[in-house]
Amino acid sequence: MYPKILIINGSARKEKNCYNISKEIEKNLEQNNISSKVFNIYDMNIEYCTACGFCDKTGYCKFKDDMAPMYEMFDKAKGVIVISPVHFNCISAKVKTVVDRTQAIYASKYILNNSSIDRNKKRIGMYIAVGGAPAYEGQYSGGDIVMDFFFKSVNNKLLYNIQLNNTDKVSFEENEVFKKTFTENIQEYIKDIKELD
Ligand SMILES: Cc1cc2nc3c(=O)[nH]c(=O)nc-3n(C[C@H](O)[C@H](O)[C@H](O)COP(=O)(O)O)c2cc1C
Repeated sequence: MYPKILIINGSARKEKNCYNISKEIEKNLEQNNISSKVFNIYDMNIEYCTACGFCDKTGYCKFKDDMAPMYEMFDKAKGVIVISPVHFNCISAKVKTVVDRTQAIYASKYILNNSSIDRNKKRIGMYIAVGGAPAYEGQYSGGDIVMDFFFKSVNNKLLYNIQLNNTDKVSFEENEVFKKTFTENIQEYIKDIKELD
């Protein structure tokens, strides 16, 4: 059985903000009998895309690393949730590595015209960006651009774009105001996912 929701934790730090957010989402999904799988990508062996052109010819990636099983899961899932620290107003490098590797899906669709992902299936995406600094202009700008493209690549409608700032002073766990709206967002997301059935 494939998990219904893929959760990608883009931080290396355990027990910190992104990780704790991933746990909270996992718990809520579980309470609603929605299966999920958390990918702690810093624990995974995921090669950088080397632009070798293999996927342009075949529609899949030549690397048989920890990313390999994820391709089919992207297809079978009803939703993808990415939680990333803000690094230089963008996603973390490891999240970007995963994003780049979905070029294989992109190539299958737009170069080979033989999509490896069911393009008619409805999937709902959520992107949570976690910044350490207090809010400032452009804090999420790089990540927003990249992730908008990523969710299109994995055929998810990005309905939830959530931002948490100032985590270097106030952690997710301590931020009661954010946690309240976050819980509401997760409940909305769960409702949306159930409506896909
Ligand atoms: C390399 C690096 C770059 C960062 N760049 C930014 C940034 O541009 N803007 C920001 O608000 N926080 C930035 N931060 C802070 C992290 O976003 C913040 O500590 C976040 O909570 C990390 O997620 P985690 O707590 O789940 O590990 C940066 C941290 C690192 C290590």
